[in-house]
Amino acid sequence: MANFFAVSAPGLEPFTAKELKELGLLLIRSSSSPKTFSPGKDEADLIGGVEFRGSLADLYLANLHLRTASRVLLHLGSFYADTFSDLGRRAKRLSWEDYLRPGRPVALRVTCHKSRLFHSAAVTERVLESIGARLGQTPPTKKLGGEGESNPPQLIVVRLVENRCTFSLDSSGALLHRRGYRLATAKAPLRETLAAGILMASGWDRQSPLIDPFCGAGTIPIEAALMSRKIAPGMRRGFAFMDWPSFDGKTWERLKGSSRQGQPKSGPPILGFDRDAGAIRAAGENAGRADVADSVFFACKAISALDPPPGPGWLVTNPPHGLRLKSHRDLRSLYIRLGRILRAKCPGWHTAILCSSDSLLDLTGIRFERRFPLRSGGLRVTLAKATIG
Ligand SMILES: C[S@@+](CC[C@H](N)C(=O)[O-])C[C@H]1O[C@@H](n2cnc3c(N)ncnc32)[C@H](O)[C@@H]1O
Repeated sequence: MANFFAVSAPGLEPFTAKELKELGLLLIRSSSSPKTFSPGKDEADLIGGVEFRGSLADLYLANLHLRTASRVLLHLGSFYADTFSDLGRRAKRLSWEDYLRPGRPVALRVTCHKSRLFHSAAVTERVLESIGARLGQTPPTKKLGGEGESNPPQLIVVRLVENRCTFSLDSSGALLHRRGYRLATAKAPLRETLAAGILMASGWDRQSPLIDPFCGAGTIPIEAALMSRKIAPGMRRGFAFMDWPSFDGKTWERLKGSSRQGQPKSGPPILGFDRDAGAIRAAGENAGRADVADSVFFACKAISALDPPPGPGWLVTNPPHGLRLKSHRDLRSLYIRLGRILRAKCPGWHTAILCSSDSLLDLTGIRFERRFPLRSGGLRVTLAKATIG
């Protein structure tokens, strides 16, 4: 048994916790500022997540099924160290050989807070020496690329807080929003993890019709189709844990096999519209790669031509809200129109709209019952929920 930490973007932690519970995994705690684990300096202040406990098979299960988490870390060990010799000696006792193949490049992310060992480069050097001593050769180091990197080095997270040193290993590799289907993009695509999170926050029951009238490259409808068809988001990608010497391929295949059982062949109507023909083409290609082309209907259509199927259902969307329209006046009139159209054509429908501006949301004239603060691409955004009167 080991402890794990499912990292999620701010605001998505409760949904990650719910997903872990539904997978039958044992939660330890949910946090927006984890004390024991931290994904690293650049994410540490922004990102929380959920700590859970289980076997390596549970770790595979979490990576295969979690729709809202960004990555899953394995807690390798922690100890007190206020000198380099303590750090080196104790780091050497950790079972690196279970997780690092000789020659596999690694990237260390070291953060030091209120500790006598405060020089992160020196800590990195000492930890690399210890790993080398344990494995018989020092692993090559490689810098982590951007979030688009498809085969990143093995990430090792080292965090020193008040002389307590915690080691975690990333088990996911490429971030979990990279499901493998979205190769075609349009303007300002949402991360797949955020799209899944807003669908969960919207309260969509996975059985009623769902529309995204500003669907861009189709992220929300495709995530909805994956959810309604119970297709695991990690089915078509690889993970860092597959490179670990401890990797158990049979267990992995068994987990994938059982995730296919009981999958419905069809789902409710899921529709995506956008006025940009290129975006609709990209959405169709992405749906094909995600194996849900027959579960989603895309069409090139402006919001003014919205024709919802018999409902009520859910309308979940992120309309333009940044610098993409020519002027602020265009944006304001778009939100005023959106409110009018929803009241005229979608009475009784549930709606969840993701937007960075409360004043734009207010222009719809819709009385929102609940607002969730979230983040999209570093930007503070709100998911506003209502039932159209
Ligand atoms: C923020 S993007 C949506 C991104 C999408 N969620 C994704 O993940 O790719 C907003 C989309 O609204 C579309 N759009 C702008 N004005 C529109 C209108 N009047 N009617 C329909 N679509 C519109 C744009 O073409 C753009 O694709």
